[in-house]
Parts: sequence; C-alpha cells; structure tokens
Amino acid sequence: MLLHIPHILTTDEVRRAQDLLASAPWGDGRPGAGVQAAQVKNNEQLPHDCDAAREIRALVLRGLDRQPLFFSAALPKRVFPPRLNRYGGDSNYYGNHIDGSVRYMPETGQRVRSDVSCTVFLSDPADYDGGELCISDTYGEQAVKLPAGHMVLYPGTSLHQVKPVTRGYRLACFFWIESMVRSDEQRRLLYELDMNLLRLRERHGETTETTGLTGTYHNLLRMWADT
Ligand code: NI
Repeated sequence: MLLHIPHILTTDEVRRAQDLLASAPWGDGRPGAGVQAAQVKNNEQLPHDCDAAREIRALVLRGLDRQPLFFSAALPKRVFPPRLNRYGGDSNYYGNHIDGSVRYMPETGQRVRSDVSCTVFLSDPADYDGGELCISDTYGEQAVKLPAGHMVLYPGTSLHQVKPVTRGYRLACFFWIESMVRSDEQRRLLYELDMNLLRLRERHGETTETTGLTGTYHNLLRMWADT
C-alpha cells in the first residue's frame, strides 16, 4: 500500500526544519548504504547526532504521534530513528534500489525490520525541479512529490528511486517501520476496514454493526499482530 499522509509537520515546524538544514553539516550519503545501493546512491546525509538532526527527528516523531492515519496504516512496532537527506548540486539522485531489510540501531542495540518505508518531504515543491520519489508497486511506477510537511508511506519491499534534482535542493526526512503486522496485504485490509469504520461512524454514529465490525478489526489484529 502506498499512502500519502498530509500534515505530519505544521507550517512553522517545516520552516524551523528548513532553517536548521540551511546551515547543517551535510556529509556524503553513501556510508551506511548496502553494496548495491551505494553504487547508485549520490546524495548527502546529515550526521545522525548533530543538533539539527536531533531537533528535526523529535519534530517528526511528535508529528507521527499526532496523526492517527499513520498508526492505522503502519501499525508500528518499532520506528527506526528518522534520518535527513538532501539532493541537489552534484549529489542529486538515488538510482533504483530496495532498502536493506534489517537496520541496526546503535542507540538501543536493537534491529528493525523495514516493513514500511517513509519519507517526509521538507522542501516546497516549487523550490526544486526533479527529485520525484518513483516507487514501483503492483500497479506500475508511482511518481511522488509532496508539499513540505507531508509524508508518503510504502512497502519496504518496493523497488524505488529518487530522480535527479536539476534545480534547487530537495530536503527530506526518511525512516523505516517494523510493523506489528508483517504482511503488506494484511496491513492494507486492516487499514481499509479501519477507514471504512471511521466513515460509517461519521455518517451513522455508533450502531450495532459498527460495534460488531470494530470487534472484527480487533480480532483480526489480534490474530495477525506480533507485538
Ligand atoms: Ni531507499
């Protein structure tokens, strides 16, 4: 499932992130990428422990907590701490690759299986050309370029690339989720059930049927979730 989740960050938070990133200590994005990915990767990344990275990471994690759509779509068990990257100038693309399946978090010594990939766009689309995130899914390739502060979420199993940025800079925050529900197909069913229940409640209020279907949702989640 490929899903656009709007407004992870407010306008003020986006501006704060952009200010911090304008004077941030960017470095080569290749270290940390796997062997195949490193060959097609040409972008910049922020050191994980610099002040700007810490502050923006905290903003994004708070933003995720405020957005119930995110919880419903990702059913997160663990979140790999968000990273920041920049495309532009001579470091302006990331060719086709599939993200590494298991990421190590030195902070906690834990591993995160990358079931779901997330990108929060931090630049205004009018400020750069190119830089589309192109994701191959069941229905072909989707080109994604979202307003600043909005997020795309897609299966970690997808082949994807970031097209060359030919003007300006594309700033983004990216991270992975290990989901309580490993299967993308099962997560999608749960998400659709949850969203339809939400709309039913909006239209008719709580009814015997919505109560019954909410039970079905939880019973499916109980059957499929690994907590
Ligand atoms: Ni990737």
